[in-house]
Formats: sequence, structure tokens, C-alpha cells
Amino acid sequence: MTGAGGLIGRAVAPLLPAGWDLLSTDLRAADGLYALDVTDVDACRAAFAGADAVVHLAAVPDPDASWELLLPANVVGVHQVARAAGECGVRRLVLASSLQAVSATPVGTQIRSTDPARPANLYGATKAWAEALGSWVAATTATSVVALRIGYFAVQRPDAEAVSAAERAAWLSPRDAAELVRAAVEADNLDFVVANGTSANRYRRADLQDTIDRLGYRPTDDAW
Ligand SMILES: NC(=O)c1ccc[n+]([C@@H]2O[C@H](COP(=O)([O-])OP(=O)(O)OC[C@H]3O[C@@H](n4cnc5c(N)ncnc54)[C@H](O)[C@@H]3O)[C@@H](O)[C@H]2O)c1
Repeated sequence: MTGAGGLIGRAVAPLLPAGWDLLSTDLRAADGLYALDVTDVDACRAAFAGADAVVHLAAVPDPDASWELLLPANVVGVHQVARAAGECGVRRLVLASSLQAVSATPVGTQIRSTDPARPANLYGATKAWAEALGSWVAATTATSVVALRIGYFAVQRPDAEAVSAAERAAWLSPRDAAELVRAAVEADNLDFVVANGTSANRYRRADLQDTIDRLGYRPTDDAW
């Protein structure tokens, strides 16, 4: 797992299947984290050699981030990860995309995971790039790829007073995030899949049925 020291990685890692032999990496080594700068393709190759799957979370996750901030991890890093995963013969690459990849979808329209990328900010455009790289690796190597269009991850159930209805409708809980990663790693019979990633929120803008059907994702939490 890359970017495992971040918000999602720290919350999800302890909830993954007990049988997994997880190698948690991030930019800098820390307790339980090995150093892996994803912009370094040789380091990626060394880290991925022999791995069954790579879960790529490392990125700048800010929809307002500038090109300069996004360039290292979100543009170069995701390429190095995709390239190294393919070259190492990793069975499955899971890429953290975002619903920001489709944030220019007109209001009132349901977002399906089969919708083409339609970002409204540069960060979302880097996630569209990540998805495109996933397609490239799946088409040219033995590695199959799942790109997860993650919604609004928060450790606590969003407070209706503090968080917009749109964010609540996109909530992804830690438990469901771990289940989503499990499903994305374990699902078989796929080559390249883009999947929406939210909890089982009563009201949701992004369709989940496709993720449930294609990955066997079983979400349980609801922001309402
Ligand atoms: N948090 C959300 O609501 C959300 C929503 C949609 C998608 N995502 C995506 O999920 C992933 C994880 O998000 P997060 O909220 O945990 O972000 P985060 O910022 O908390 O964690 C990202 C981690 O990536 C690491 N990183 C950055 N540059 C790196 C590099 N060059 N090499 C190695 N590691 C590097 C950082 O040190 C950090 O620990 C990201 O790809 C993000 O775009 C997050």
C-alpha cells in the first residue's frame, strides 16, 4: 500500500483481512511504515517485486491544489506506480481515483461508474489521468486494474450541521473503505474496472450498484 500513512491508509489498514501480508509504505518511514517515494520508479519496482496486489493511495488529495503541488505524486508518481506494477507482474493494481474525476457532471444527474471522466478541477483531472494509466497497464500487461472513484472519506459519520448534503451523500466510512479495498483486490474475472466508492448512504448521487455487482462490494454504513 502506498500513501499508507495518510488519512485513508491509517484508518483502513487495521480493518483489512487478517490473512493479508500488508506492506505499508509512505513518503517517509515511520512506525510500521516503510519509505517509498512513488516518484521513484526503481524504488517502486523494488517494493512491488513479489507482491500480489498494489493499493495505490499516495497523492495530494486536495481539489484546490495547484499544478506544481499535483505534479510529483498525482501526475508523475501514479505513472511510476502503474509502470512498476505492470513490469513486476503484480496481479491486481488498485488506484485511488475520486468522484472529483466526474465533478463537472451536471447537478441532478446520477453519476454512474461507467461515465467518462469529466473533472471540474485540476485535481480531478489528475484522477482521470490515473484512470487512463490504469487502462493502459491493463491493456498492455498481465496486471488487472480497479480504479476507485472514492467519495468523501471521513472517520466519523458526517454531522448534518457541519457538512453539506452533497458531502454526506458521498460519504465513505472507514469500515466501508476497507471493504471496498478488499473487494477491489479480491474480485476476479476483470481486466479494467472503474468503480464508485461510497458507503450505502440512503441518498447518494453516485450509483453503487455497479460496484456491488462487479466487485462484490458489501457496504454497511449510511450517513443518514
Ligand atoms: N480523503 C478523501 O475524502 C478522498 C476522496 C477521494 C479520493 N481520495 C484519494 O485517496 C487517496 C488517499 O487519500 P487521503 O485522504 O488518505 O490523503 P492523505 O493526504 O491523508 O494521504 C496521502 C498520503 O500520500 C503520501 N504521499 C504524498 N506524496 C507521496 C510520494 N511522492 N510518495 C509516497 N507517498 C506520498 C502522503 O505522505 C500521505 O501520507 C488519495 O489518492 C486521494 O486523492 C481521497
